[in-house]
Amino acid sequence: MPAVLEIKNLDVSVEGRKILQKANLDVYDGEAHVIMGPNGSGKSTLAFCILGHPAYKVEGGEIIFKGSVLNDLKTDERARLGIFLGFQNPLALEGVSFFSLMQAAREAQNAKRKAQNMDIFELHNELGEKVSSLGLDKDFVMRGLNDGASGGERKKLEMAQAKTLKPRLAIFDEIDTGLDVDALKKMGEEISELKKSGVSVILITHYQRILNYVRPDKVHIMVDGSIVQSGGAELAEKINESGYSYLKCPVQT
Ligand SMILES: Nc1ncnc2c1ncn2[C@@H]1O[C@H](COP(=O)(O)OP(=O)(O)OP(=O)(O)O)[C@@H](O)[C@H]1O
Ligand SMILES: [Mg+2]
Repeated sequence: MPAVLEIKNLDVSVEGRKILQKANLDVYDGEAHVIMGPNGSGKSTLAFCILGHPAYKVEGGEIIFKGSVLNDLKTDERARLGIFLGFQNPLALEGVSFFSLMQAAREAQNAKRKAQNMDIFELHNELGEKVSSLGLDKDFVMRGLNDGASGGERKKLEMAQAKTLKPRLAIFDEIDTGLDVDALKKMGEEISELKKSGVSVILITHYQRILNYVRPDKVHIMVDGSIVQSGGAELAEKINESGYSYLKCPVQT
């Protein structure tokens, strides 16, 4: 079976500076891949490129999703194909509620599936349950998205969006940063649930601790815009113990 996502020799520049260099990654159905790497190594750039952020220029290589090349598609077209990105720094959208955003997204999904739009009261209840299950007050459904929300609350709202949209591929960029210990456990369990339901996950993180709750199929280390090493959960443990200096003298296996 082909991979859900194939990144092939991706070269990307931003503002004329090369950031990604021959990045490669294959993600299969229902797999969870973790990407770690030093600050500024290009992890968020890779996530933005998969969604087609216009500031990032693809100079070479391909991004293939479910067998189709995405390179020339706009962000909304990629989202409609079933790719979701939870941002490292979710922005506040004053005047656009979680409800109205999810309503628009559901309408777009239903139009694509030629399905009938759901009742708005049903959607309101569903979103209320989603935010409550993440430990957020139901007020978050109608408030401006992330408006006045704390760092941890914003990460929970990113997860609430992923749970509502049920994408085929969910990319979470540091969704574990800024969470208290209970919220971290809950977030890990939510990611695990998504994986069990067949969603492919790319989890960008600096910390091994979320992997106590999400069993990764692969862990990759990105340095200077390339994946320099891939392995299992033990790779995240090595980084946790020794930092990235470990990569300069890799253990012989
Ligand atoms: N829009 C931009 N304009 C200028 N430079 C950028 C832009 N986006 C990314 N960069 C640069 O590209 C490099 C990679 O950034 P990126 O955000 O992908 O790193 P990262 O691996 O996600 O880091 P972190 O772990 O700190 O989140 C950095 O040096 C960053 O300053
Ligand atoms: Mg980043």
